[in-house]
Amino acid sequence: MNGDGTIPSRGFPTSARAPGKCVLFGEHAVVHGAPELVLAIDLYTQAIVAPSSESRLNGDRGALETNRYLRETVAALGPSPGTFDVRTVSRIPRSAGLGSSAAFVGAVSAALAAGAGGIDRGALAQRCFSVERAAQGVGSPGDTSTSVAGGYVTLNAGSVGGEPLWTVRAGEAAWEVRRTEDPGWAWIVAYSGIPRSTADAVRAVAARLERPDGPALLEEFANVARAGISAVTRGDRTEVGQLMRRNQELLRDVGVSHPRLEALIEAAQPAAEGAKLTGAGCGGSIVALPLPGREVELVRRLARAGAVPYPVRSSPGVSLVEAAPAPRS
Ligand code: PMV
Repeated sequence: MNGDGTIPSRGFPTSARAPGKCVLFGEHAVVHGAPELVLAIDLYTQAIVAPSSESRLNGDRGALETNRYLRETVAALGPSPGTFDVRTVSRIPRSAGLGSSAAFVGAVSAALAAGAGGIDRGALAQRCFSVERAAQGVGSPGDTSTSVAGGYVTLNAGSVGGEPLWTVRAGEAAWEVRRTEDPGWAWIVAYSGIPRSTADAVRAVAARLERPDGPALLEEFANVARAGISAVTRGDRTEVGQLMRRNQELLRDVGVSHPRLEALIEAAQPAAEGAKLTGAGCGGSIVALPLPGREVELVRRLARAGAVPYPVRSSPGVSLVEAAPAPRS
């Protein structure tokens, strides 16, 4: 699944594509040290990068000033990074909880790093997290490490979380990243159409966890995530569905659900083992595990309930692609 190994050296123009993600268990609690399971999904951002006399993103000459993700990505190259023409195309909806910013940072960073002599995948994961953190201010390395590694990725899970990949750091904090068994399942993610701010949701949950019952709640998040990782690894769909429902109750308790998300989860129920919000919540998307053979029905139910459904599977991590003709901006 392409999670180890390096991004090789390649002459400019370079092109790379990086997957989005959906969180299966443990969002929010991961920020406070609990385990998380994240799936790299087969919706991608592709970037094509070449040195240029001026900086441009999809034709926009002002993007280096206005786009924090681009600015930090280029700055991460070193003290005199140079100027680049960057073009991107993406199928990942923005502000939907599906990792569009991590995929942008992963694809552009890998393409730039290939042109600068290549990079080890663990170093790329660290770079992408530092970029996202600098641009966004809060959060865990779940999105960026999953986009770099591909497959089913765990954080903070210890040996239940699979084979160690790398450790990502920010100041004193460190997150151990591993990859676990891929059960080969199809999932349905569905975007509610309601954009939200990850940073605001993360701060609201942090305040909620400071109340007296906070530590017990966090422990329950951790137990559900650990059991969820183990059930996915064993391929136990029924157990995974039950644990998704339990995880959703906890997310509701800490205040990050939304009436539209609850309506979508309800609509999914007859055709799903389980469903929950995915990512920061307060809008964004849900993820559902279909009952075997009921995938099409599940997609129809979610579309009828007003969401944009995407059937997804596990994807390999960020990779170079043959330099394709530049997309028109
Ligand atoms: O909704 P997203 O894609 O921004 O995911 C956020 C996941 C959180 O656990 C809420 C924050 C984080 O960085 O882990």
